[in-house]
Amino acid sequence: MKPVGLFGVGLAAALTASAALAQQDHPEFPPGPGRDTVLSICSGCHDLNRLTAGYTPRGWLTVTNMMRNFGAPVSDGEWDTVRAYLIRSFPEKPRPPAVLVPGPVDVRIMNWPLPTPGSRPHDPMSARDGSIWWSGQLANKLGRLDPATGKFKEYPVNPMSAPHGLVEDRDGNVWFTGNFRGFIGKLDVKSGEIKEINLPDPRAKDPHTIAIDHNGIVWFSVQAGNFFGRLDPATGAIKLATPPTRNARPYGIAINSQNVVYFVEFGAAKIATIDNDMKIQEFQLPDPGARPRRIAISPDDMIWYSDYARGYLGRLDPKTGDVREWPSPSGPKSLPYGIVSTKGAIWYSESGANPNTIVRFDPKTEKFQSWAIPGGGDIVRNMTVDRDSAPIMANSLENQVGRVEVKD
Ligand code: HEC
Repeated sequence: MKPVGLFGVGLAAALTASAALAQQDHPEFPPGPGRDTVLSICSGCHDLNRLTAGYTPRGWLTVTNMMRNFGAPVSDGEWDTVRAYLIRSFPEKPRPPAVLVPGPVDVRIMNWPLPTPGSRPHDPMSARDGSIWWSGQLANKLGRLDPATGKFKEYPVNPMSAPHGLVEDRDGNVWFTGNFRGFIGKLDVKSGEIKEINLPDPRAKDPHTIAIDHNGIVWFSVQAGNFFGRLDPATGAIKLATPPTRNARPYGIAINSQNVVYFVEFGAAKIATIDNDMKIQEFQLPDPGARPRRIAISPDDMIWYSDYARGYLGRLDPKTGDVREWPSPSGPKSLPYGIVSTKGAIWYSESGANPNTIVRFDPKTEKFQSWAIPGGGDIVRNMTVDRDSAPIMANSLENQVGRVEVKD
């Protein structure tokens, strides 16, 4: 998807195609009022299997708010029917109960509800001034919270941008990925002005996670497009590289103490590193079923990853290629996701557990400790660390940002 105008045409075409689809049989979509609208509209931008995953009634309210924010063309009068149909047809599937492990560390988890309902805060960011930011992916906004005062400020980005990853540069600008329209954006925080730099290859349509290295170079993953990108902010020049693995789905990114860039491949059991010449080297994980989704690097430059598919915390030693794994407390279906290294430990969230958890792993004792996220969390897709070294999260369906205050 390139410019907004073009996108409109694309959406219209997609919706015509999906109206035809609605005529076909979809046995998993039971009859009832709202069905035709759902089949024709809800396949316009993504697969219909996004719906059959199922949600609680409250979850469906959030989802329909999100789709409405993002411009799904359902008429105002019809949303109630659509929502009722979805609630009736696709209830939440059973999830494993959170297994909470007691331990020696005391934390307080704070959450702040965000001003725009259904904004789907995808990634959190912590700025040097102590503010907590988020990408309001489906509200097309970037947001800022001053946790000391509780005051919010939202910065609109262009329609259909679906901002995803975000990161602060040395000058206090916020760089983000325009996930739905294939661009890298730069928000000038002082003026609110946004610059968009389009990716040079139309196949690189979904820029995803973003990070800035020690030299100020901007790196980003392109998940479905299967690219990894490098942007020089001085010139705006972008280079793209494709991993050797087909459908590798580059995902989470982290940079080590020596300024080496690592990323995980969510479509494979692999972790990769890339250099300034765009050469990619891959590390194979021992279990072919592993699907590392996010990555964190500890001060000793060990690489930690959340294995979403198997419910493990993993550690790769990039010097030797050795891998160690620990089963996550809430089990194989716990869906470990956002992860950070801070305060001498690894912290991550189990996004499948009910409620979602914050898990702490002490690399010295190899012991877990975990807590329920108040309100359920409901999908911490990414985490970061603030200037006081506290883990920061965005709870995407709960529409909150949160902070884990660790009592020393
Ligand atoms: C204009 C484009 C568009 C249309 C039309 C649309 N969606 Fe979406 N939907 C998105 C985007 C963008 C996302 C988030 C990005 C992603 O994960 O693919 C999303 C994500 C979702 C998710 C996953 C949400 C989560 O956080 O787990 C569900 C469920 C969903 N859509 C349901 C629907 C339903 C129901 C409809 C019809 C009423 C619909 N969508 C129509 C764009 C659209």
